[in-house]
Amino acid sequence: MNYDIKDKTLAEKGRLRIEWAAQSMPVLAQIKARFAKEKPLKGTTLAACLHVTTETASLVTTLKAGGANVVLCASNPLSTQDDVAASLAVNENIPVFAIKGENGKTYYQHLNAALDAKPDLTMDDGADLVSTIHSERKQLLNGIIGGTEETTTGVVRLKAMAAAKVLGYPIVAVNDAATKHMFDNRYGTGQSTIDGIIRATNRLLAGAVFVTVGYGWCGKGLAMRAKGMGADVIVVEINPLRALEAVMDGFRVMPLVKAAPLGDFFCTVTGNLNVIRPEHFQKMKDGAIVANSGHFNVELDLQGLAGLSKKRRIVRDFVEEYLLSGGKRIYVLGEGRLINLAAAEGHPSSVMDMSFANQALCAEYMKKNAAKLQKQVYEVPEVIDAQVARLKLAAWGVKIDALTAEQKKYLRSWEMGTN
Ligand code: ADE
Repeated sequence: MNYDIKDKTLAEKGRLRIEWAAQSMPVLAQIKARFAKEKPLKGTTLAACLHVTTETASLVTTLKAGGANVVLCASNPLSTQDDVAASLAVNENIPVFAIKGENGKTYYQHLNAALDAKPDLTMDDGADLVSTIHSERKQLLNGIIGGTEETTTGVVRLKAMAAAKVLGYPIVAVNDAATKHMFDNRYGTGQSTIDGIIRATNRLLAGAVFVTVGYGWCGKGLAMRAKGMGADVIVVEINPLRALEAVMDGFRVMPLVKAAPLGDFFCTVTGNLNVIRPEHFQKMKDGAIVANSGHFNVELDLQGLAGLSKKRRIVRDFVEEYLLSGGKRIYVLGEGRLINLAAAEGHPSSVMDMSFANQALCAEYMKKNAAKLQKQVYEVPEVIDAQVARLKLAAWGVKIDALTAEQKKYLRSWEMGTN
């Protein structure tokens, strides 16, 4: 079997960490047990471009249990957990192409190695598989029946492809399931981003000014958790409704140029390009710490920052000091790549349980229904979303009420008004 990983001898460590994470993934475990019996993905070759983590290991072994021939590559050069990659290759016989710290060239070589398997289904986190297939590997389009997408940034890219009528096969936007973004994006990003910033810096958040740039589901989670750690949180947002929500959630809201001189920590979660630029870096305090938790490393204008700087040096793992011409120091974490996976381990397993349950069920759905679907981006079917929520509650032993027959009838009626 062909694979490219850092070090095979890490496999046992990876196996133990995968086992640990799986303890918090009961929903996916149930799906895996059913998949092992029913083999809904039998005969399917599935290329997955995902962060290679302990949680992803549970997903790909679930897909394999379902009969898929799975090949895995990294969806980010810095997010791979090398012990997990080793365990999947050595213990599970899954071809893995992923090495933490790989450069851009190797990243795309790995992605292309996964595509060499000639997938019927693609599973993306950020749409790099889909975009490479449509730009450089068009001949693969004939054989592909469908795909799924994990993250907001990927869904934005895929919707742009569908709008431009260039999308060559149907995609299910897993990110848009309520049981994905309301939990993974909010509680997952919230906790793991703080975890990444703390592991990289070991700085105290209590009493510090923490600037959250972006107040989507990820930004909401991050602001909430930074506040919980005792930080004084400022929110920067371009959408008036979200800005209003941030104000009513109790945060100061202001333009980035006004927040720049106040912040001790800055973290972008916008999904957009060049959000923190030289005009902002110039206004920051000496020692300001800047990170990104959005999918791509485009949110911080690091070229612009380099242009302002006379010297750069790595001062500890995942911390680079930029010494500006006037003597001020700015610290950039994890090369501006998503800090929760670069310096920490990504979202905790319990939340990935729901995201990846959606992925597994959507792969099954796509396999069953691809012939009926158009070359568009589809929402996750409501039954899947509801099933994931129900299974998660059941796994946690949480019981909820049901509507009475009278209440169901009332909700379908219009006659009864003010009493
Ligand atoms: N995205 C964010 N956190 C993740 C994790 N733990 N595993 C896979 N993908 C992720």
